[in-house]
Amino acid sequence: MNKILKLLILISALFVSVYAIFVYGFLELGIAVHPMMKVSFKAHPIGIYLHVFSSLIALATGPFQFNEKLRNNKIHLHRLVGKIYLICILIGGLSGFYMALFSFGGMISHLGFGLLAVLWIFTGYKAYSSIIRKMVQVHYNWMVINYALTFAAVTLRIGLGLGFASGIPFEVFYPNLAWLCWIPNLIVALMIVRKGGD
Ligand code: HEM
Repeated sequence: MNKILKLLILISALFVSVYAIFVYGFLELGIAVHPMMKVSFKAHPIGIYLHVFSSLIALATGPFQFNEKLRNNKIHLHRLVGKIYLICILIGGLSGFYMALFSFGGMISHLGFGLLAVLWIFTGYKAYSSIIRKMVQVHYNWMVINYALTFAAVTLRIGLGLGFASGIPFEVFYPNLAWLCWIPNLIVALMIVRKGGD
């Protein structure tokens, strides 16, 4: 993958992570979301806090795991960060699935976020099970797919910006974003894996 694109992925992932730390670490819960989402977050504070803080660790650490130099020179660090990443996916995915049951936008949102959570955990498991069997290329491929799903946190926020700019009511565009935030990422990841490149 192009170096500039990799840098853009890193910067946008760090940007969303820092945003989440600031908003969920220091401000009132639900201050930056739709009033109905705020009600749902306040009713399930443990679910949303577990989800946000574990997921943002995965989002922020993921790009470093793809750095070849880091992998080659500091394999112990790659293994340690990889384990932390996968634990965060498990916690973030389970709590994300839980929050999907109450997500804004009805059944379309519940299914979109719910399926994303299932695929997130499943692809993380495949990445792990392949590396413990020393299948390095297979592990790499599953991680490309898994991180593309993690990156839904960034594409969702780009979609939110575009949605607001378009003038379409939030109630109308948000349920679609529950799918559009990850399906294009998944398609791009599958194309990268198919090409056999990085
Ligand atoms: C990839 C699997 C993910 C799933 C299935 C998922 C699911 C969800 C769900 C269901 C909600 C509640 C939405 C609502 O109530 O309408 C939510 C909110 C949130 N998620 Fe995730 N999420 C994922 C990844 C991430 C990642 C990687 C981050 C990293 C920062 C993240 C950060 C947040 C934040 C900050 C919110 C609160 C809403 C906001 O402030 O915009 N999520 N997520």
